[in-house]
Amino acid sequence: MDGAVNEILRWASTNCYVLRRCTRDFGLNGTTIKRGDLVTLWNVSANRDQEVFRDPDAFDILRTPNRHLAYGHGVHRCVGAPLAAMELDLFFRQIVDRKLRLEVDGDVRWLRSNFINGPAMLNVSVCR
Ligand code: HEM
Repeated sequence: MDGAVNEILRWASTNCYVLRRCTRDFGLNGTTIKRGDLVTLWNVSANRDQEVFRDPDAFDILRTPNRHLAYGHGVHRCVGAPLAAMELDLFFRQIVDRKLRLEVDGDVRWLRSNFINGPAMLNVSVCR
């Protein structure tokens, strides 16, 4: 279940990017990021980095290691990550234990956002 939840988080990457302001001049791959510059880290892209993840577009719940950045990185890494992980674990465990299936019911309406990558409306039917 751990592997499945982490792969869902990596693959779906609901938080597209995080934003930081640079506190000092910093060299990165031949580019200088100047103090005061705003920088975005595109978690959604990092989570499909072919130098980190083998076959990054494949959904593989057995993927290991799976060092995804869905919860961000560093001091502002998601403080709710353990709670989210526990809730997702419980949710999917119930689906599996009760032998339930979720089926998309109707059209999915996606959120118009470059920040949050997810549906604004998603109806599902719970089937046995
Ligand atoms: C799957 C669910 C979740 C995902 C993918 C997620 C993702 C993220 C990400 C990427 C950040 C980093 C923002 C940044 O670096 O600027 C963040 C921060 C944060 N998250 Fe979550 N989050 C989730 C669930 C939760 C939950 C359940 C809570 C609270 C109960 C929560 C509370 C927070 C807070 C307070 C921060 C700010 C931490 C800080 O700035 O030090 N998150 N989250």
